[in-house]
Amino acid sequence: MISFYDLFMFPLESFGIRKARKKLVPMISGRVLEIGSGTGSNLPYYNMDHIDELIVSDFTVKKHLRKRASLKAKVLELDVQNLPFPDHSFDYVLHTLVFCSVAEVDKGLQEIRRVLKPGGLLLFIEHVMPEGKNMKKVVNGVNPMWTKISSGCNLNRSFTDALIRNNYKIEGIDKFMKTVFIYGTARPIII
Ligand SMILES: C[S@@+](CC[C@H](N)C(=O)[O-])C[C@H]1O[C@@H](n2cnc3c(N)ncnc32)[C@H](O)[C@@H]1O
Repeated sequence: MISFYDLFMFPLESFGIRKARKKLVPMISGRVLEIGSGTGSNLPYYNMDHIDELIVSDFTVKKHLRKRASLKAKVLELDVQNLPFPDHSFDYVLHTLVFCSVAEVDKGLQEIRRVLKPGGLLLFIEHVMPEGKNMKKVVNGVNPMWTKISSGCNLNRSFTDALIRNNYKIEGIDKFMKTVFIYGTARPIII
């Protein structure tokens, strides 16, 4: 049965999210960690021929993710702010539509840095503060109410600023739906 989340997301998927998933996910290979997998919307796009190990995860894993992952992936409950893996464990980390609701963004990005192998790549789709003075005003106005009714989702974060602040080099980025959404890749700078 289709989840309420997937039903809610259906129109947004067709306005660009699905296209972004199709561009990013098939490039992933090796040992892979996906964070905040939700109902498992990215699972159909992995090229399993190129993957050695796939871990999909969420704060709380629901039945849709377990069902979709089945034999394809290992399913774990975890918090991106405190990842239970040794340093340099993964070739790729993926998160889509997750960092809008992570309590401590910098902590999460530092944990991803830590678990990525040297040269490893972070792939992301996120919704962010849109460009334009008027849009920013509107979004800042509705954000306090939205955060309350949406389990902590924020509409006005800048994910690219967070990447830069946490020493990632953004290697590719694209925007869609009037700059509300971004997707791309970033690599930890070795310091
Ligand atoms: C909007 S859903 C996105 C689901 C899926 N990734 C997608 O693209 O449709 C956000 C997910 O992030 C998860 N999440 C939020 N904060 C998290 C955290 N600190 N650590 C791990 N997962 C988190 C939530 O539990 C939720 O399943």
